[in-house]
Amino acid sequence: MKISITRKIPETALQLLREADFEINISTIDRPLNSDELIKCCKNADGIICLLTDKFDKDMIDKLTKCKVIANYAVGFNNIDIEYAKEKNIIVTNTPDILTEATADTALLLMLSCARRSFEAEKFLRDGKFNGWSPDLFLGMDLSGKILGVIGAGKIGQAVAKRAYSFGMKIIYFSRGQKREIENKFKAKKVSLKKLLSSSDFVSIHLNLSESTKNLLSKENLNLLKKTAVVVNTARGEILDEDYLIKMLKSNKIFAAGFDVYRNEPKINPELKNLNNVVLLPHIGSATFDTRNKMAELAAKNVINVLKGKKALTPVN
Ligand code: GLV
Ligand code: GLV
Repeated sequence: MKISITRKIPETALQLLREADFEINISTIDRPLNSDELIKCCKNADGIICLLTDKFDKDMIDKLTKCKVIANYAVGFNNIDIEYAKEKNIIVTNTPDILTEATADTALLLMLSCARRSFEAEKFLRDGKFNGWSPDLFLGMDLSGKILGVIGAGKIGQAVAKRAYSFGMKIIYFSRGQKREIENKFKAKKVSLKKLLSSSDFVSIHLNLSESTKNLLSKENLNLLKKTAVVVNTARGEILDEDYLIKMLKSNKIFAAGFDVYRNEPKINPELKNLNNVVLLPHIGSATFDTRNKMAELAAKNVINVLKGKKALTPVN
């Protein structure tokens, strides 16, 4: 059986697939594939390992002649029409849990960088402007004693709450269901989205992108933020109104924002790059050696299981 992999991923996955006697075809193009390249790479595959940049909409899924499983090398799966895949008897899987800690670390990294203005401060030093300790040099915000609003209290949201709690923050959260664990362990309190936005000092987004979460942080909702608020997004760019948030940052309506994801990734709104009160990362939430190895392994195991007639480990449809 043939497995197509749309980009070079860690060797651990390839080894498992070879041991299972699959024929592997890895794209040699070292950038996200366009739709023609994606079709060419995947159309005759029995199983596919793809990236979050590969769009499997209805048209693309219709081009697949034999595919039984699409293993997304990511926890988010908004790049795949999972309902349509199901109609076509294609199992879609993702890589949950193993990237929880790495992604939560990235959220904290953004919170701390925004709070303590680390980008601005480092740039100042590299530009040769540091002339000595000064009482008012790059004053920022404390995390301790402040309120963190966690939007989406799934695994990653809870791992962020755990870190923030140990920093001495008070946790509130917005989620569809009641999350006893985050309440018991980190004294978190469930609130409405509006209440969360109007009372948080820090806001961190941890939702899947779907029709119901798209633009959830609309202009109207963003206007509820405190003037001293810090907003960080390690989920998906489309969850917030990026253009409006940029307007707010430009006119200092909030303190700062940290981005790991963007609305039109990999295009970055040029205005963002001109702002000092933002921290901009290139979608590296899960980017640690260990985590990416484990993601590759899980993606491979999902493909192997499905093609050998066993249950997928982490199906999403
Ligand atoms: C990264 O954004 C992921 O969904 O894994
Ligand atoms: C800072 O370096 C201090 O000693 O307060």
